[in-house]
Amino acid sequence: MKAARIRVQSSAGPYTVVAGTGIIRQAPHEIAALGKFSSIHIVSSAKVWRAVGKIVGRGLGFAKRNIHLFNDAESAKHLGSVEQIARALCRVGADRKSLIVAVGGGVVGDVAGFAAASYLRGVALVHIPTTLVAQVDSSIGGKTGVNLPEGKNLVGAFYPPRLVITDPDLLRTLPDREFRGGLAEVIKHAVIADAPMFSLLEKNMDCVLERDPDALGSLIPRNAQIKARVVSRDEHESGLREILNFGHTFAHALESITHYRRYQHGEAVAWGMMAAAFLGHELHLTPAEDVSRIISLVRRLGPLPPWPSVPPAALLKAMRSDKKARGGVLRFVLSPRMGQAHTYDSVPQLAVERVLHFTPRLVLAASGHLGAAK
Ligand SMILES: NC(=O)c1ccc[n+]([C@@H]2O[C@H](COP(=O)([O-])OP(=O)(O)OC[C@H]3O[C@@H](n4cnc5c(N)ncnc54)[C@H](O)[C@@H]3O)[C@@H](O)[C@H]2O)c1
Ligand SMILES: [Zn+2]
Repeated sequence: MKAARIRVQSSAGPYTVVAGTGIIRQAPHEIAALGKFSSIHIVSSAKVWRAVGKIVGRGLGFAKRNIHLFNDAESAKHLGSVEQIARALCRVGADRKSLIVAVGGGVVGDVAGFAAASYLRGVALVHIPTTLVAQVDSSIGGKTGVNLPEGKNLVGAFYPPRLVITDPDLLRTLPDREFRGGLAEVIKHAVIADAPMFSLLEKNMDCVLERDPDALGSLIPRNAQIKARVVSRDEHESGLREILNFGHTFAHALESITHYRRYQHGEAVAWGMMAAAFLGHELHLTPAEDVSRIISLVRRLGPLPPWPSVPPAALLKAMRSDKKARGGVLRFVLSPRMGQAHTYDSVPQLAVERVLHFTPRLVLAASGHLGAAK
């Protein structure tokens, strides 16, 4: 069992992501090395716990009554779930020296993370991510929070964990659509920070899609490392961390205009990355060859729900009201060459409109099936 130990810097001190196939068996040992806790509390969902509870729970030494399961549907990612978790912790006497172990995908991590940040003004937190998105993205970087009816992730805190335990084995039971959605974020990491990994994905995408243990065993730690490097240098997203939003300005507009019902997030990011590649090319930044490589690799993720049939102006409006748009100015992360990305301010509206108009048409033309609904 070879594990990568990835250091992440944060304002609350450094923490480690231990990543490797089979590493979950070391969880008791890794957690014991953090120090003594008065009690250990698992926060997860019924669905996740059914899938991985047996493997994850082994040896952790928590009382049965200290397993707290809540609904991890995106629609239940609200303050009510934080209250539910906090009250459950209270009822079993969790104190300041207790530890919360969040076991699940990004929803569990964000909600349990925010509960850990606010319960008794903060108790220790360990993440055990069980989706690809959580393993390569959401468990690293300390962002926690919940949605409001007014928008996504509007209430939250930066609350770094003490440790992240990432085992690709836990992904075996993950539904295919979730897995493929996570791969969109992996492609994103390659485009913005790791050109050799992009080439590797071009070569190995079939093995990755089959969840080949060797392929995932190296791919996941490599991606965790990329996220760790970016957030260590810019924890609070004042600059560099923005590059992680490659494809996301488009994706958020696609998601909000379809009321978060049409796309799994990664599917919207897949469309968004293709649009961002086209936009980069429109602005004479992204070479044509990179655009075509990005389109080809993204297409290998499989069919995507179709682009919404709304005028570009409607999507543009959604982009301007994105919470990251900063005063309505259009900002985009674009890639001037494979493995690099920067934020570009004040992108001409006309270029964005053109891209919104031709992205679904060009992509459809390049692939008979991509625009087809599932
Ligand atoms: N904090 C961050 O930096 C950050 C980054 C990216 C995304 N997010 C957030 O993460 C959330 C999305 O997270 P996600 O993509 O991990 O999906 P998710 O947490 O919604 O999980 C997807 C589905 O898979 C199930 N599941 C999870 N692990 C499983 C397993 N091993 N086997 C079987 N089923 C399993 C869940 O129960 C759920 O139904 C969003 O709310 C998003 O805002 C946060
Ligand atoms: Zn994303």
